[in-house]
Amino acid sequence: MRWSEVKRPIVCLAPMDGVTNTAYRQIVRRLNPEVILFSEFTSVDGLVRSERVRTKLDYDPSEQPLFMQLFGNNPQMFAEAAKMVEQRGMMGVDINMGCPAKKIVHSQHGSALMKDPDTACRIIESIRNNCGLQVSVKTRLGWKNEDGLIDFCRSLQSAGTSMITIHGRTYSQAFKGVANWEPIYELKNHLQIPLLGNGDVLDYQDGIKRLENLDGFMIGRHAIGNPWCFQDSKKYPQPVLGERIRVALDHYGLLCANTLVIMSTTSSMPKPGGRV
Ligand SMILES: Cc1cc2nc3c(=O)[nH]c(=O)nc-3n(C[C@H](O)[C@H](O)[C@H](O)COP(=O)(O)O)c2cc1C
Repeated sequence: MRWSEVKRPIVCLAPMDGVTNTAYRQIVRRLNPEVILFSEFTSVDGLVRSERVRTKLDYDPSEQPLFMQLFGNNPQMFAEAAKMVEQRGMMGVDINMGCPAKKIVHSQHGSALMKDPDTACRIIESIRNNCGLQVSVKTRLGWKNEDGLIDFCRSLQSAGTSMITIHGRTYSQAFKGVANWEPIYELKNHLQIPLLGNGDVLDYQDGIKRLENLDGFMIGRHAIGNPWCFQDSKKYPQPVLGERIRVALDHYGLLCANTLVIMSTTSSMPKPGGRV
């Protein structure tokens, strides 16, 4: 699957740490055959060095088309991690250039890459030179404002990025305020690659209303507890209570099964309160 060939609008499950693990992705897939799935972000250094982190490469074939999101800042590590993703048969890697968490940004990962376009581009080139996977990027409007958005994304495009998603907030905003999609529509006029909007989309109908000149959208928080949000409500009725309970139980079963697989692979218990 190439981004340029996907049917429009492109509708995606946004990567969410602690949420979009294989169990949840399988649930979203069962209800939405056409949605494109993204994993939660995973450290490239962790993937290369830790057996426990490598369990994040496990997925069910039904999840395809599936993209694995990676974070880090060392181009060589990205290349190593991307080769592992390629060996597992996923469709591509997505690079996190938008996470505003202090721990991530202080390590020069996530949003910090918006301030270091040179490293951001070297990461893309390193992956492209070492494996055949498509590379996409998920980022934000900018650090404090959107002044550098067009130049930054054009550099990413020149480095070989095949799709970009923009969360319509800045690093400084984190999750505060309302997502601003206007700079994303303007950016589309300056790119040749597919561009997706993200931020505050409630459901499929809302995504369509916001689409304008974009190629598609991602839904994050509103998909938590509502994997039906990707469905066109004009075609599919809202699920009744019994259906919601059945899907919740299926999700629980998949989470338990996945925990057992992790325990048997790494012969250790997940930390108390740790994420599956
Ligand atoms: C719990 C949680 C975890 C997240 N983890 C990630 C992540 O791993 N990678 C990423 O790019 N964005 C992550 N995000 C950001 C979302 O992908 C998305 O950009 C953001 O929530 C805005 O979209 P929304 O309004 O549809 O939720 C996370 C958001 C939440 C709420």
